[in-house]
Amino acid sequence: MHNEISLTATEAARSAALLTEIKEEIHRAEGQLGFDRFMELALYLPELGYYASTAEKFGPEGDFITAPLLTPVFGVSVAAQVAELLAQQPEMRVLEYGAGTGQLAVVVLTELERLDCLPAGYDIVERSAGLRLRQQQLIREQIPALAERVNWLDESPRGCRGVVIANELLDAMPVKRLVNSSTGFREQVVGWNGDELMMADRPLGSPEVERRLAAFELPVGYQTEINCSAEAWVESLGEVLDEGLVLIVDYGYSRAEYYHPQRDQGTFLCYFRHRAADDPLRLPGLQDMTAHVDFTAMAEAADRSGLTVAGFTTQANFLISCGALEQLADRVADADYVDLLAPVKQLLLPGGMGEVFKVLALTKNYPLPLRGMATRDIRHTL
Ligand SMILES: C[S@@+](CC[C@H](N)C(=O)[O-])C[C@H]1O[C@@H](n2cnc3c(N)ncnc32)[C@H](O)[C@@H]1O
Repeated sequence: MHNEISLTATEAARSAALLTEIKEEIHRAEGQLGFDRFMELALYLPELGYYASTAEKFGPEGDFITAPLLTPVFGVSVAAQVAELLAQQPEMRVLEYGAGTGQLAVVVLTELERLDCLPAGYDIVERSAGLRLRQQQLIREQIPALAERVNWLDESPRGCRGVVIANELLDAMPVKRLVNSSTGFREQVVGWNGDELMMADRPLGSPEVERRLAAFELPVGYQTEINCSAEAWVESLGEVLDEGLVLIVDYGYSRAEYYHPQRDQGTFLCYFRHRAADDPLRLPGLQDMTAHVDFTAMAEAADRSGLTVAGFTTQANFLISCGALEQLADRVADADYVDLLAPVKQLLLPGGMGEVFKVLALTKNYPLPLRGMATRDIRHTL
């Protein structure tokens, strides 16, 4: 596989430098890093991790594409849901986590301005310094008159009133990879065999996880993931938000579907130049790594932190409820209507992103029904 991939000299040097850092940390950790720590270094080590580099990750030149980059219909629909709250309480703010290129912020702010419903401020928490710069540039270029409303925060704020948005944030958080054995679940670890990185495993020793998965009677050899970082992030939102709404959009399933006996290889995948691969040790820092989200775990974390699970639906139903089809209908006479249609189909259709992507809505001190959940609420599946 390695031979088929042509890397630039810069890519090869960066990956080699990251490998050295990983090796040193393995050494300091007496030979083994939990897979989640390895994934964290590979994705987020400052300057060298996948998300830290300035190399293109998004779109045709990168490794993957996300909904805000496919079509503005996504952001305009999200804005419709945000506007529902802002119309009642204009002093509320928007807080976006993991804003990627900044494209969603641009579209949401533009649409909120059109609706005469701008938030008091639009705050962004972004882990990657490179992406933060890119967001600042895009926002300055595309919406200069609104740029002063946007702030970048170094850490999560406390006591906010407003709407928290996280699109494809949780799937980019480090996961523990688990394998079932006759003595219970073991977690994968990453070590160094003298020549290269190697995978091994060790007992997970978590009665909580054993209990969580016991109901599914999973066979020996079954591989899966658990995303403790994502659960901790959702739990932290109890302190972040005093009043308002959280919209989490990501690919994933309810727990029963996530840990289905037939999903015996788990959901973890790597992406390099739009090709999926399953060897995480290859090309450290140059390939994306991701896993689907167990939305039941997120709902339980929300519960623990005092947030209300206010709705759960598919991306298709959320977007349709928020007026995606009306947006298309308004453009039906445009000469490029067919071009507008294709990416929206990708967002909505079950074979595209319509079903596997879900929207989880969490609220605090916000008792009103949500527009995005109006056509179909599947909370009962969680
Ligand atoms: C898959 S990208 C999605 C980007 C964007 N939301 C989109 O849909 O195009 C994941 C983003 O989350 C950021 N990220 C990951 N973990 C984070 C965290 N704990 N806090 C803030 N940003 C984070 C990454 O740097 C990246 O910008």
